Amino acid sequence: MIFTLHAVFALLLLGAVSGHAAAKTCNVAPLGHGKDDTDQVEAAIARCGHFGTTVFAPGEYNITRKMTWDLVSSRVDLHGYLSFIPDIQYWLDAHNTYRVIFIQDQASWFVVTGRDFVIDAHSTGGINGNGQPWWSYFATRTREDGDGRPVAFTLKNVTRGVVRDFRIEAQPFWCNAVADSSEVVYDGMYCNATNQDPLYAGQNVVPNTDGIDTYRSDKITLLRWDITCGDDCLAIKGNSTNIVAKDITCRGGNGIAFGSLGQYIQFNDIVDHVLMEDLKFIRLDPQVQPNLGSGVYFKSWTGTVNGSPPTGGGGGGGYVSNVVVKNVFLDNVTLPIHVYQTNGGHTGDEPSKLQFSNLTFVNWTGTSQRSTIVELACSPAAPCPNMRFENINITPPSGTAPSYICVNVASEFGLPACNATGLA
Ligand SMILES: *[C@@H]1O[C@H](CO)[C@@H](O)[C@H](O)[C@H]1NC(C)=O
Ligand SMILES: *[C@@H]1O[C@H](CO)[C@@H](O)[C@H](O)[C@H]1NC(C)=O
Ligand SMILES: *[C@@H]1O[C@H](CO)[C@@H](O)[C@H](O)[C@H]1NC(C)=O
Ligand SMILES: *[C@@H]1O[C@H](CO)[C@@H](O)[C@H](O)[C@H]1NC(C)=O
Ligand SMILES: *[C@@H]1O[C@H](CO)[C@@H](O)[C@H](O)[C@H]1NC(C)=O
Ligand SMILES: *[C@@H]1O[C@H](CO)[C@@H](O)[C@H](O)[C@H]1NC(C)=O
Ligand SMILES: *[C@@H]1O[C@H](CO)[C@@H](O)[C@H](O)[C@H]1NC(C)=O
Ligand SMILES: *[C@@H]1O[C@H](CO)[C@@H](O)[C@H](O)[C@H]1NC(C)=O
Repeated sequence: MIFTLHAVFALLLLGAVSGHAAAKTCNVAPLGHGKDDTDQVEAAIARCGHFGTTVFAPGEYNITRKMTWDLVSSRVDLHGYLSFIPDIQYWLDAHNTYRVIFIQDQASWFVVTGRDFVIDAHSTGGINGNGQPWWSYFATRTREDGDGRPVAFTLKNVTRGVVRDFRIEAQPFWCNAVADSSEVVYDGMYCNATNQDPLYAGQNVVPNTDGIDTYRSDKITLLRWDITCGDDCLAIKGNSTNIVAKDITCRGGNGIAFGSLGQYIQFNDIVDHVLMEDLKFIRLDPQVQPNLGSGVYFKSWTGTVNGSPPTGGGGGGGYVSNVVVKNVFLDNVTLPIHVYQTNGGHTGDEPSKLQFSNLTFVNWTGTSQRSTIVELACSPAAPCPNMRFENINITPPSGTAPSYICVNVASEFGLPACNATGLA
């Protein structure tokens, strides 16, 4: 139902954009090795980004500083890669990135704003994040939210935008973020954070390489995503409403997250009306990426404030409701379905007031690394009503019986026996 609405709106949007796009065209080709393409890329967007078309020929565009594209009734054909120089100290200087997405003070080196646009990368272009030097550098250093590692591709304050067949190679940090935006369709997205430094074989040195984080956004549609990462394949954060994700492959990482939520005491985080379908979770060679944490998991901070965001926080309220996750295949994930409300917490904290309700899981198959298939650890201050399960056929390790754990669940339907026995 939600999906159909979004598909119709996407078609309308394409019609609206193609009506304007003939006005002017800018053509750009890479200047070649050793040259800086940033000026010519910015100049083309300045000239053709409003009511025009910008065509980037195949190849690598050397981008050496932060860049914003404001696109209005515009089309961009990005046949090549915007390659962001791996000068770690340069980007970590707070002056050299934007802080536009608010959540966790994260940094961005490339921001797209505007309305009624299409960016089509034709599966031959997108962004090269040159992440390997970043992953190796941070393998032996502390990583903190808001430390300045840049999001590869940020959509901010966008209304009616389409991103198509876009490839992001080696994101250093989050691959995508969308914030303060509405009616955005990402149709075809590839992200791949795969460590190739033999020094770190067998370790996850690509944490925080999330496929996308959605924040303060409405009507966001994610179609045909292929994400290799060491963290959240998708992360649905506060005030994400009417979200559709369909045909999503997650290779390694933590799984799909709702959260974390409730980090900011001054805000309610609302996540409402989410449909996810046709999801695959693939475990990688453990020498390449040891983690495949969950299928889908939901997490909130506790009700106590433990320090300030971005690194600490807690105490925020809100709710997550009307979520359907169906047609899911799991390849040996650690814990297929998980709810917990103690993120960043300590024993003795106040329980979270953020409530999870109306979550529905349909047609899940595949394998789990442990016998626990579902663990719902809801807050005693906000027990979870209406947890629904249909056709959950996940095979636990041979010789073990599947188990289902429900703590502070107000009502549950469809699991054989769900109770607090065995909660870790
Ligand atoms: C990118 O441009 C800088 C000059 O600003 C240059 O030093 C560097 O070699 C270029 N990199 C590539 C890969 O062409
Ligand atoms: C968002 O974009 C609109 C135009 O599309 C502009 O008027 C407004 O100032 C922008 N808001 C922010 C916070 O950048
Ligand atoms: C991701 O990148 C690694 C390293 O280049 C490669 O081996 C792997 O096949 C890529 N994954 C996908 C899904 O393309
Ligand atoms: C979410 O929206 C509600 C109003 O609907 C607002 O009160 C709250 O502050 C917003 N939260 C965030 C994180 O912006
Ligand atoms: C269940 O999900 C699988 C994908 O994991 C899909 O192939 C199958 O068609 C779905 N079954 C139904 C009845 O929708
Ligand atoms: C599941 O994953 C674990 C950790 O990588 C591995 O030890 C185990 O052999 C895998 N089991 C199957 C059935 O693939
Ligand atoms: C949960 O579903 C019930 C029954 O459909 C509905 O009455 C209730 O409003 C929903 N809760 C939220 C928070 O949307
Ligand atoms: C609680 O769950 C366990 C394991 O799933 C099951 O064996 C037991 O019968 C359940 N107890 C009740 C009271 O439902």
